[in-house]
Amino acid sequence: MSPPDSEALTVTTPAATVFVLNGPNLNLLGTREPGVYGSSTLSDVETLCRDVATGLALEVDFRQSNHEGDLVDWIHEAGRGYDEGTVLGVVINPGAYTHTSIALHDAVAGVRVPVIECHISNVHAREAFRHHSFVSPVARAVVLGFGVAGYPLAIEGLHRLAASRADG
Ligand code: DQA
Repeated sequence: MSPPDSEALTVTTPAATVFVLNGPNLNLLGTREPGVYGSSTLSDVETLCRDVATGLALEVDFRQSNHEGDLVDWIHEAGRGYDEGTVLGVVINPGAYTHTSIALHDAVAGVRVPVIECHISNVHAREAFRHHSFVSPVARAVVLGFGVAGYPLAIEGLHRLAASRADG
């Protein structure tokens, strides 16, 4: 039997994808309280994420919803992708659901995919009702207070975590 040619042996693995999930009111970025959140739009944030991901050979699946259940469903979807080996992790800015949502806490607790919580503002320097997060106790890490630059930092952090898992 002749040896198989090397072309036939090439396995194409799907690029690892990072889910970047945005919660309520983040569709208004750019015009919403610019003194707090800056002037970048959500589309600018998506570009920042895609640029950093490209440099790390990652894909980005970038989404926004004003509905809590969508965020829950997307975390489950990312969890399935992680188990199948196609998803590296999740960066989520849960917006105000950070401070209210036991459902989001339970969704993150219920999946294996690493989840990085990301906030544009330093929530601890703001109103007391923003000081508690239901997501932080189940997040792998938290990035906050860097403005929209926190999103690419969070993607880099996920990449580092994956690299250190692969090393060890
Ligand atoms: C936010 C902080 C939340 O308290 C707020 O409700 C948001 C945005 C941030 O990115 O700084 O919607 O998550």
